[in-house]
Amino acid sequence: MNRIDTLMARMTLSEKLGQLTMTASGYTVTGPVIAGDSTQSIIDGTIGNLLNMVGAGPAHEMQRLAVEQSRLGIPLLIGLDIVHGHRTLFPIPLAEAGIFDEAVWERTAREAAREGAADGLAMTFAPMLDVSRDPRWGRTAEGPGEDPWLNGRIAQAKVRGFQGSDLSSAESLAACAKHFVAYSPVTAGREYAAVDISERTLREVHLPGFVAAIEAGVATLMPAFTDLNGVPMTAHVPLLRDWLRGEMGFDGVIVSDYNAIAELIEHGVAADLVDAAVLALKAGVDIDMMADAYRKGLPVALEQGRVTIDEIDACVRRVLRLKEQLGLFDDPYRRGATPEPAAVIAERHALARDVARKVIVMLKNERDTLPLPATAKAPGALAVIGPLADASTEMKGPWWGAGEHEPAVSVLAGLRAALPQTDIRHAPGVAIDSADDSGIEAAVALCDGADAVLLCLGERATMSGEAASRATPALPGRQQALAEAVTARAQALGIPVVAILFSGRPLVVPWLAEHADALLAAWFLGVEAGHAIADVLTGRVSPSGRTPMSWPRAVGQVPIWFGQRPTGRPMNPADYYTSKYQDVDNTPLYAFGHGLTYGRFRYDELHVEPRRVREQGTLTISVTLRNEGAREAEETVFLFVRAKVSLVTRPLLELKGYAKLRLMPGVAGSVKLKLPATELRYLGPDLQPLFEAGEVDVFVGPSAEPTGLLQQTIELC
Ligand code: NOJ
Repeated sequence: MNRIDTLMARMTLSEKLGQLTMTASGYTVTGPVIAGDSTQSIIDGTIGNLLNMVGAGPAHEMQRLAVEQSRLGIPLLIGLDIVHGHRTLFPIPLAEAGIFDEAVWERTAREAAREGAADGLAMTFAPMLDVSRDPRWGRTAEGPGEDPWLNGRIAQAKVRGFQGSDLSSAESLAACAKHFVAYSPVTAGREYAAVDISERTLREVHLPGFVAAIEAGVATLMPAFTDLNGVPMTAHVPLLRDWLRGEMGFDGVIVSDYNAIAELIEHGVAADLVDAAVLALKAGVDIDMMADAYRKGLPVALEQGRVTIDEIDACVRRVLRLKEQLGLFDDPYRRGATPEPAAVIAERHALARDVARKVIVMLKNERDTLPLPATAKAPGALAVIGPLADASTEMKGPWWGAGEHEPAVSVLAGLRAALPQTDIRHAPGVAIDSADDSGIEAAVALCDGADAVLLCLGERATMSGEAASRATPALPGRQQALAEAVTARAQALGIPVVAILFSGRPLVVPWLAEHADALLAAWFLGVEAGHAIADVLTGRVSPSGRTPMSWPRAVGQVPIWFGQRPTGRPMNPADYYTSKYQDVDNTPLYAFGHGLTYGRFRYDELHVEPRRVREQGTLTISVTLRNEGAREAEETVFLFVRAKVSLVTRPLLELKGYAKLRLMPGVAGSVKLKLPATELRYLGPDLQPLFEAGEVDVFVGPSAEPTGLLQQTIELC
């Protein structure tokens, strides 16, 4: 008999249910604490998995209880959310999506896994694969932005990064694809609210990221808190059992979200905890995180004949197999055995800085305001104004995980380090979200004698992330008043205003977009934020980040994304009865993919070969770029398609690829993209993949903004 069979033969029901239970834990000076339970449960074998434990010491102490003191010695599985870095916090996932670089997506996950594993962890609840088109939803910050194709690329890179090539390595973590599925289109952008979407949208937009993660070998998966068209995902038999386990053949561990099984009662589909446990088990949920529904409910359900021991055993086997794959039986102390050398940590910080400066999106740069001219560099004077300028904690973003006590670099500190000769003055003006504007006057006065004004505005980190929906995702508090007063003064003095926005989502900032001379989206950049911003402002590096979500002009445009379907009455100023708003343009303020560099790229000579292609064929797309700007920069080139005539309406643009090209000033180069024709399949009227003969427009350009795209038409045959 193998190890798992031997164990299964010896386990009691309560030991089995222990393996299906995950409980939060903490560590205080007096020792470990297990929420709502005690360490005795680990010794009894009735708790088999923990979350929220930080530090190798405490993790090993817990592990010892399980391995050395419990009857069967089954090691614990210990997991934690590592959403954008563990201790060394990287830019938030939304920001990182805009780097369009698979090597970076993978590398930051790898580094986070190494750091997490060095803390004794074996699992992380990431990557988050919720395609989001609604900036009201706070969890937008944790995900890939608005595009499903991009989501798939990120999903695969993240799974590779977290899990490495060998799950049992002391540097690998089991990844968890979440939240399955279609969590993001919550009603009116309100967290945890009901979801009602079509089968087509589910299959075209929300499932592909999970398919990609499964193809990459993701070890675990987490159902969303929400319901989908009336069925809570924690109890969704058609999607969990039939599609995921059945059609996709996913045999990894499904772990519920926090208390989600008990919440089936509040959803109104379970009368009590027994009912809830039965529903989740029948749907295929293996581990109950924090609800204690399995331990309390399943013994009753078993006795009543509502579940079978075989159903329970199947879950236990999956959990034990994961522990085996992670190498926990062979050496439960492998992870966290040796502290990481200082050089490894320093290198990780260098990576954090490099990624942070590359994801900053330059939304606007009128008259080459940036990089800051030499006068403002040395000695010169800069007025650094706003509540986010001296806010190192906020820089870390909404999921700081184990990085809670790690220092982070503020904008002010970054600038002072980069420009030691410059007179850098600072006033917050206002607090992030208070109604008190008594500090505005002093901030305005700071502009006198300065060469430029930097306005550091935006959200508090906790205004995005879980439970952080905002009905008006604009500048909070009195920041708009501060921006107007400071800008008026700067204009009177004839000095430029550079606005730097911090947020976990695109913000609705039409006034700033019009009045600031330069505008940067800095999202939340992590521990190296201030240095990264200084690198970009001073021109040490050219910004190259692109926005992975459309920026709305008004909240009423939400949800907004580039791949919308056409209308029978496209907007036409000459015709009243067309699809439009009375009060705002249809277009976003900034389109998906938008982001300027310190170069200026001209696109030319788009070639697509062959002009007629069969399903088995491949298109080769090439385009020439010339950097007509005065500085070296890296350009991101996007490939989109649109079918001319199809059996169902198709998105106006579909992303199918991207490439990057770095060019010195005055130099031309070309990029080549390959597109297998199978990628031009779509879901036909019956929702089955279809390769349909006909014309397809191929577009290449710097963003999804239609006027900037070159176009060629090819034919599918
Ligand atoms: C709730 C969140 O929805 C989920 O993403 C996270 O992994 C769990 N809490 C555990 O912290």
